[in-house]
Amino acid sequence: MKLLVTGATGYIGSHAALELLDAGHEVVGVDNLSNSSRESLRRVEALTGRDVPFVQADIRDRAAMEDVLREGIDAVMHFAGLKAVGESTEQPLAYYENNIGGTLALTQAMEAAGVRRMIFSSSATVYGDPARVPIDENTPTGRPSNPYGYSKLMIEQILRDLAAADSRWSVALLRYFNPVGAHASGQIGEDPQGIPNNLVPYISQVAVGRREALSIFGDDYPTPDGTGVRDYIHVVDLARGHVRALEFLANAVSERPDQLDQSPQAAGAQASANCHVWNLGTGRGYSVREAVAAFEKASGRSVPVQVAPRRPGDIAECYADPTLARQQLGWQAGHDLDAMMRDAWHWQRQNPQGYEV
Ligand code: NAD
Ligand code: WQD
Repeated sequence: MKLLVTGATGYIGSHAALELLDAGHEVVGVDNLSNSSRESLRRVEALTGRDVPFVQADIRDRAAMEDVLREGIDAVMHFAGLKAVGESTEQPLAYYENNIGGTLALTQAMEAAGVRRMIFSSSATVYGDPARVPIDENTPTGRPSNPYGYSKLMIEQILRDLAAADSRWSVALLRYFNPVGAHASGQIGEDPQGIPNNLVPYISQVAVGRREALSIFGDDYPTPDGTGVRDYIHVVDLARGHVRALEFLANAVSERPDQLDQSPQAAGAQASANCHVWNLGTGRGYSVREAVAAFEKASGRSVPVQVAPRRPGDIAECYADPTLARQQLGWQAGHDLDAMMRDAWHWQRQNPQGYEV
């Protein structure tokens, strides 16, 4: 299949592009380079020996999207979006405009071009502070603690409504837990601008000497060691989950309801015949201190820490029940925490300043 990957030069988009190419698909990348470097896709081309045509454009530019989509695109993997939680609280309009406005323009362009298969980057943030863990897809969506999270929840609803209105559409809403790590080559990885918001990039930058110490945001949570527990998932596993979801959508026969999964689990997962929801996580939670220890082991470097107050909006524990993706997509994460940290470190050590040379 020929895929349009939005946000293709970004962290997850570049890894997905690579896995799509490895699985024999073609990729056209779109990105406005607001939070990424053109270099990432050049490296994907070098790693795969394949061309990745790239269009520098904003997904809000509907005409530009329509032009690209008319070039024989079969499906869209939609990663483009702003994702900094704290920034979204300061600039809610920019986040709603970019994420929701961008998705609306993109889906309208898809409709006009007759491309009606979409895989969307959602987030476990849509569950808010869940009543229980592990979180399966039946867990009601909650109240995200920030506009970024609400933008994901609203986009899910828009895409669900679109699929309900027109059975020619097929949609996958993929709820990621905490993507970390990098491709095993160390050639592509996460390259945050400025001070990292997320744990593993911060730890990596401490280990490589760019920052002094990690602040642990709270050690008084009701968790085994008091620090927050998350379901870290290797970005390559996550990318492979997208390839599986794509293949699932392509093989689904929406005209034949007898072939649809009628299990209570699928029904409860807010899935419909042509709109599916899957958690992409490992099913295991690790604390901040466990993550730091695994990184120190993988890198052989010490990572100084200091305990700081809780970060507003954080929850104590969040990890997936990934059973549905295993059953329906035949997908499960293959990398453990040690592999995630090894690959995060491999990327950081080889690229101490990220893609900037
Ligand atoms: P990223 O910032 O590395 O990638 C997003 C890309 O989208 C960037 O390259 C950016 O330049 C581009 N972009 C943003 N707005 C655009 C626009 N209007 N037009 C064109 N391009 C635009 O982030 P990522 O970590 O790769 O995340 C990819 C997707 O996954 C995002 O939608 C994010 O919200 C979602 N997600 C990420 C995480 C995570 O922890 N990384 C977790 C859950 C969901
Ligand atoms: C992980 C743990 C922190 C940094 C965020 C978004 C979520 C999703 C994934 C996009 C928490 C602790 C962190 C630090 C720390 N993104 N921490 N010191 O908050 O689980 O999820 O990214 O959809 O929407 O909210 O990830 O990596 O920021 O934090 O102690 O410097 O590490 O408190 O317990 P989070 P994270």
